[in-house]
Amino acid sequence: MVFHSSIRYVAGQLMVDGIAVRDIAHACGTPLYIYSLPRLRANVRRLQAAFAPLRARLYYSVKANGSLAILRALHEAGTGFDCVSGGEIQRVLAAGAAAQDIVFAGVGKTRAEIEYAIAQGVGCITVENPAELQHMAAALRRLAALQQRVALRLNPQVSANTHPYMATGHGAAKFGMTAPVIHSLLQRHQDFPQLHIDSLHMHIGSQLADIAATQRALRSLLALAQEHPQISTLNLGGGLPVPYRRGESLPDTADFAAALQTQLSAYSVALEPGRAIVADAGLLVCEVLYVKRQAGQRFVIVDASMAELLRPALYQAQHEILPLQAATGSTSLAHVVGPVCESADMLALDAPLPQVQPGDKVAIFTAGAYGMAMASNYNARLRPPEVVVDDDSWQLSRRRETMDDLLRLERVYASLAIEKPPTEPV
Ligand code: LLP
Repeated sequence: MVFHSSIRYVAGQLMVDGIAVRDIAHACGTPLYIYSLPRLRANVRRLQAAFAPLRARLYYSVKANGSLAILRALHEAGTGFDCVSGGEIQRVLAAGAAAQDIVFAGVGKTRAEIEYAIAQGVGCITVENPAELQHMAAALRRLAALQQRVALRLNPQVSANTHPYMATGHGAAKFGMTAPVIHSLLQRHQDFPQLHIDSLHMHIGSQLADIAATQRALRSLLALAQEHPQISTLNLGGGLPVPYRRGESLPDTADFAAALQTQLSAYSVALEPGRAIVADAGLLVCEVLYVKRQAGQRFVIVDASMAELLRPALYQAQHEILPLQAATGSTSLAHVVGPVCESADMLALDAPLPQVQPGDKVAIFTAGAYGMAMASNYNARLRPPEVVVDDDSWQLSRRRETMDDLLRLERVYASLAIEKPPTEPV
């Protein structure tokens, strides 16, 4: 379901908790991201409850949505954080979380990032390449630090049933290390006395609707762990799926957790969900600019594009798109497209949509994860504002970018007189 207790129609008006989306869009303009903090917290509680039998710790995957308001709310809800760059670590620290609650992963960490992470005191660093261990040992010496906790990431050579760009655990992927490489690193762990290697990690992909692939990968992870008694923690990565379309059915998270319980009872368990925490807490709201009929098709041209939401163009992702005012009439198929000069600039292909007119506003659902996080300034578009709703109040958590924000970085070359737009953006 794309509707839930926080995002639903009430008396024909699309609401985020106690606030009509129309009112926020009126105040802030479009395109605009809106997030429900109550839904974010409910998702955390639901996952915590599902994985309680495993006593699993959640490390929210910051790449899904690194908004400070989201990070702060999650810190208050008690999650840790999975970061993949020095920048993400800085964001999490800026949101008030402790470095100890961060796990730092990534296939290409720079030496500077490794040193920064150790200096800050991150809880664990996930290693994807044996050379990283040398860099870490050198950084520890330079910093005169005592110890760093380390996880080794297994590439379990399992193909997840998901979009090829989101599959990370097959043998040809750049991620992780093979079992023999990990085995040999664990055998010579005394070469790195300051590295406390007590964890194994895996992440076979994202939007994993297929539990069987996870279980196959888990068997390889457990086989490796059982050979090495120093391993006490297993990090199973992220990938918990969410429904994007009405009526889409997915494996139940609690059943999934229950199926793993006996195999994992001897270990501390960590998880890194991103999408399952933030996707269905977010909407992208946009306005219809034109409706054009051409070559037997209905094009609904809106003021959002692949620059604000890349997922449909990059992964052929299908997000539900619905008007702010519940439609009563019949629907017909439409291509919802943006203004960007690319044929891939589409938000929905052949989506059932009611009749809409220029000036109507529509919401793109389940846009809280990998929406704003992957937004760009392509075509000199300004990244949209973000609003967080908490029960009966809302606030702007990030203002709309201005041309001034963009041009500032190039001032060294340009001495442009920048005219203010006719209406000052929020
Ligand atoms: N842990 C690791 C090591 C990861 O690589 C990822 C996602 C996660 C956790 C979080 O996965 P999640 O629970 O959100 O599925 N941009 C794509 C998704 C790429 C995910 C990359 N890694 C999308 O828009 O669907």
